[in-house]
Amino acid sequence: MSAILLNHIDEVKSDIKQWKNDNLKIGLVPTMGALHSGHASLIKKAKSMCDRVVVSVFVNPVQFGPNEDYDKYPRTIEKDKHLCDELGADIVFAPSAKEMYGENVKLSNTDLTFVCPPYNYIDCMCGKSRPGHFDGVATVVTKLFNIVQPDFAFFGQKDAQQLFIIKKMVKDLNMNLEIIPCPIVRETDGLALSSRNSYLSLDERKSALSISKALFEIEKLYKNGVTDTSILFDSAIAHLDKKIELEYLEFRNFDTFQKVDEISKNTLTAIAVKIGKTRLIDNIILR
Ligand code: PAF
Repeated sequence: MSAILLNHIDEVKSDIKQWKNDNLKIGLVPTMGALHSGHASLIKKAKSMCDRVVVSVFVNPVQFGPNEDYDKYPRTIEKDKHLCDELGADIVFAPSAKEMYGENVKLSNTDLTFVCPPYNYIDCMCGKSRPGHFDGVATVVTKLFNIVQPDFAFFGQKDAQQLFIIKKMVKDLNMNLEIIPCPIVRETDGLALSSRNSYLSLDERKSALSISKALFEIEKLYKNGVTDTSILFDSAIAHLDKKIELEYLEFRNFDTFQKVDEISKNTLTAIAVKIGKTRLIDNIILR
């Protein structure tokens, strides 16, 4: 069966109302489109847990900074819809920015009610170089939760800081759903799937391979008993291709988001880099 493509909030709400009346479990997979196998794994997981699955496809303007890739971000709705059909999603919700934020809104927090995650969790890692990004993410995700009222929402672990912040938001604001984290999906050579990989030239893609290599090196050393993060940091950096500009490589407790000097259980090891103009992130969780 084909998924229904809906562009309007009211249409989605009316289907949701019917599903709620029928006591069906609803899953939401929020995306910005340009779907790849990583997204497919989220949709499959949602299908396995829910009676109905909504995939949102929305390049959210309020989570992009003024000099970021909002205009350039790949938009491939026909292909995305096709993949959602194949995977058995029920609704593809692809609103316009006007539908989500209204006609005259200037998309700043002087015009719009924003959901702002706490400073401690956004003034670091990706939030440091992308001011306002997580306010934009938390705001759109809250709007999507209010529209779709899902029982479960599925997020990839690749955006580990996003995942942490959304889980915290759901807990802090008593939102009525469960967040389901899903593992990173990688190419066979180790590169983490990302819609932004399409920006890479062949040469840049070769350099990008050293990101996961650096993380796997950390994992290998950790398995061999090295827990000192300064040693792990130096060994990882040595594996990064020379063309890569490191933004951060950090070790944080994935339960508290505090930085750690020694790896203990559930340590997030996260990296962000720039290759040419493309910014990529990746991580592994050391358990
Ligand atoms: O991870 C993403 O693709 C986006 O940040 C999300 C969660 C869909 C919000 O726009």
